[in-house]
Parts: sequence; structure tokens; C-alpha cells
Amino acid sequence: MKVAASILAAVIASASSFVVQPQNTRRDTFLSARKPFITGNWKLNPTTKKEAIELATGIANAVSDSSPGDVALFIPYPFLESVESAVDGKVTIGAEFITAEESGAFTGGVSPLMLKSMGIEWALAGHSERRTLNGESDEEINEQCLMLIENGMNVVLCIGETLEEFEKGLVDSVCAIQLKKNLAGVTPEQMKQVTIAYEPVWAIGTGKVATPEIAQDVHKVCRDIIADMYDETVADECRILYGGSVSPESVDGLMAKPDIDGTLVGGASLDDSKFGRIINFETVEE
Ligand code: 13P
Repeated sequence: MKVAASILAAVIASASSFVVQPQNTRRDTFLSARKPFITGNWKLNPTTKKEAIELATGIANAVSDSSPGDVALFIPYPFLESVESAVDGKVTIGAEFITAEESGAFTGGVSPLMLKSMGIEWALAGHSERRTLNGESDEEINEQCLMLIENGMNVVLCIGETLEEFEKGLVDSVCAIQLKKNLAGVTPEQMKQVTIAYEPVWAIGTGKVATPEIAQDVHKVCRDIIADMYDETVADECRILYGGSVSPESVDGLMAKPDIDGTLVGGASLDDSKFGRIINFETVEE
């Protein structure tokens, strides 16, 4: 508890230097042409290569010409090559994390150069499970983003607040801190290689999906922060995904919101019929 309290105190202290400016009507996000992007994160699943190929094949079969967006799966390293060939180009395959080194004495590491040599061009960075379970700092996540980008790859940068931060009204500040620290040194041109995933930690694996209204508000704040860091064009073109207990029941309402450009799905991406329904979300009137 003491550690949590001191982390929170540090967030509050540093939040003051990342004040989010009041929002205005500076852009009409409805005019943007951001193609929907439905993505899954398998985490430490499934157990065998056979299951991985079957699951990926089922998911690829759900993708058709009438599917509304791009589809990607972030999966464990051992399955990358066999799943990549199983999906036959219908689904982009990426890694769940990288080591921010090109080579050397880093036991257990996997560099972007290794992935690139296998035809893998996407990876996640900054997932909350890696921030907490693996102790990855904002600075390390920044190095991973830069390493991926500088090697011509694409990154889905995951950000989001804990329940305690949510309850204390720190969502905007936490997102601002993470975006500014994790994207330090990334140029406006390089932002074309960046997708943001807003994943409130309290919604991950809990079944407590953020309401479309809450998620929309935070996505809009994130887009405004990106506009302040870069410019309106970069902010308008950047896809911002929502992650946290997305299901076939919740996807349509989330995707109806103007600043929600896609999803990063955990549990439901392990079920091809559920994920297939999410891929083929239905457009609902607001
Ligand atoms: P769940 O969809 O299982 O909540 O996981 C979300 C997530 O962490 C995706 O990266």
C-alpha cells in the first residue's frame, strides 16, 4: 500500500506539469478518414502451436471483404511464423513486446531486427501487464517505441490509468504523462507508424468495460494531447483503440463513438466466434 501511495503521490506531483488544456472545437473528428482497426492480444495463450493455428485460422475465416476495418493479432513469439502463414494475409500478425536492443548479451531478448527478418512489422509496447509484472518504465517503453519506429516497424502504444487514478480523477493527467514520456523523440512524420491503445487498467480482464461515453471522453482527451504535442493533422490521422473487456455485446456501442477507431481485445480474441463478431462490428446510430 505504501508503494502504491507513493506512486500515486508521484503521479499527482508530476501531473501538474502535464495539465491538459481546456477542450475546444478545434477539429471535426467525423471528417477524419481513420479506418477501423480491430486487434487482439493473446497474452500467454494458447498453450500449443496446434491450438494457435486453429484459433488463427478461425479468426482469419471471419475476415471478409465486407469486414469494416483492418485486423491484427499480437501473439506469443513461438507461434509467429506458423500463425502468419495460417492467416494467409487476412490478418496482420505482430509481437507482444520487444527488447529495445539490436543484439548483444541480453538473455531472453528479442530484437525488432529479428522480427523484421521474419516479416513481422508490428509490436505492442507499454501494455499495463508489462508495466506492472515486468516493471517496464516509461523510459524503457519510449526506447522500445523508438527502436521499432527507427527500424521501420509499427507500434501500438498502450496507455491507461489504474482504478485508484480513475477514482481520483487523474485519467487525463496519466494519459498525458504516458503519451509525452512514451513518445518522446518521435517525430510528426514517424507518428504514421504509431497507433495508441487506451486501456484503463481497471477494465482489463475484469468484465468491467468502460462505457462508450467514458471511453470517448478519454479518447478525445488523448487526441487533443497529441494535437498539442504535434499538430491537428497528426492527431486527426492517429488511430486510437480502446481495450478492456471488449466483447461482442459492447463493441458496437464503443465503435459508434467518433474518437474510438478500434479495439485491443484480450480474452475475447481467444474465441474465434466472439472475435469474429467483434471484427464484424455493426454500425449503430448515435
Ligand atoms: P481483456 O479484453 O481480456 O480485458 O484484455 C484487454 C487487454 O489487455 C488487451 O491488451
